[in-house]
Amino acid sequence: MYQLNENYQKLPGSYLFSTIAKKVAAFTEANPDKKVIRLGIGDVTQPLAPAIIEALHKAVDEMASAETFRGYAPDLGYDFLRNAIAEHDYKAKGCDISADEIFVSDGAKSDSANIQEIFGADCRIAVTDPVYPVYVDSNVMAGRCGDYNYDTQMWSRVIYMPCTKENGFAPAFPSETPDMIYLCFPNNPTGTTITKEQLQAWVDYANKNGSVILYDAAYEAYISEDNVAHSIYECEGAKTCAIELRSFSKNAGFTGVRLGFTVVPEELKCGDVSLHAMWARRHGTKFNGAPYIVQRAGEAVYSETGKAQLKEQVAYYMKNANTIKNGLQAAGYEVFGGVNAPYIWLKTPDGMTSWDFFDYLLEKANVVGTPGSGFGPSGEGYFRLTAFGSYENTVAALERIQAL
Ligand code: MLT
Repeated sequence: MYQLNENYQKLPGSYLFSTIAKKVAAFTEANPDKKVIRLGIGDVTQPLAPAIIEALHKAVDEMASAETFRGYAPDLGYDFLRNAIAEHDYKAKGCDISADEIFVSDGAKSDSANIQEIFGADCRIAVTDPVYPVYVDSNVMAGRCGDYNYDTQMWSRVIYMPCTKENGFAPAFPSETPDMIYLCFPNNPTGTTITKEQLQAWVDYANKNGSVILYDAAYEAYISEDNVAHSIYECEGAKTCAIELRSFSKNAGFTGVRLGFTVVPEELKCGDVSLHAMWARRHGTKFNGAPYIVQRAGEAVYSETGKAQLKEQVAYYMKNANTIKNGLQAAGYEVFGGVNAPYIWLKTPDGMTSWDFFDYLLEKANVVGTPGSGFGPSGEGYFRLTAFGSYENTVAALERIQAL
């Protein structure tokens, strides 16, 4: 008789956003006359920018003729895209990252789940709490997290770094030394961030303690303040301790197109072993490259026209963020985030639990958000709204919330 990966049996419930989708589906079925506004999952709503559509069309046409047809993509990504990323995301920002340190993929969600594979089974992970659930769940599947305690909602081998309003949503160094440290700034879900100096302190900590930082910078396009790093490689010494995960989903609307990349610097070594070589081996074995047409679309993100169009798109979503933030504040809510990120994190009113507030908002205002406790125990009593809706829906949602 075959056996199963028993670690999967340890996972409580379904994936957060699947649970929410099921609840919303049940509500809409029971209330077909209600117009539900979805500000839950951080999925974009604006169409792809014209420069990207043009690049997609052109690449599709190339696939129609034998001379320009492309089959398997190079497993680490086409040079045209890796060069554009190195140039625009790194060299232009003063970061010494070369094209061959960039591994193109089908998105940051899969990379953030897959990257743990190259680390030992006994490694201790540290996560901010609340946290994007993929980091923890993927380590649970790999058997690295110990057992789940339903009372505390914590895993026995995970080191939690609470981020609450009391500490300004900035994680403190944990009392136990972690091997792998997951950081995401600007942060999902809190929408807050840390300064470049605070990030530098994490880099110094990791180098001193022999830890690796898995840095998720999916929301860097939303940074509006000067003292916030767009990449961890803006910090001195980051190349010997950090891997960076990046996405085209939030800055360019690729949630349905799928494209991302991971940076693994050549200098990153565990003893004599190169993590760059290990990730290249893993990528080469398990991944056949992001589609050519999608990588051409990704290249267009870095064209002058593409950049200008995407700046407008980011501004559109940040106008929503402002609308949510101001609207909630006017209604008496305590609100965080939304300045350097497309997420607004609010304190639930009257001591309601996150899930009670989810039900209340869905039933009374027909607005969907994400319960903070779904991201970890320190998210209890908080709630997340996303700025990725349309402007009209965002305004309407806030009117409904204010009318409660
Ligand atoms: C979220 O809502 O947290 C994100 O959209 C999920 C994701 O990027 O996978």
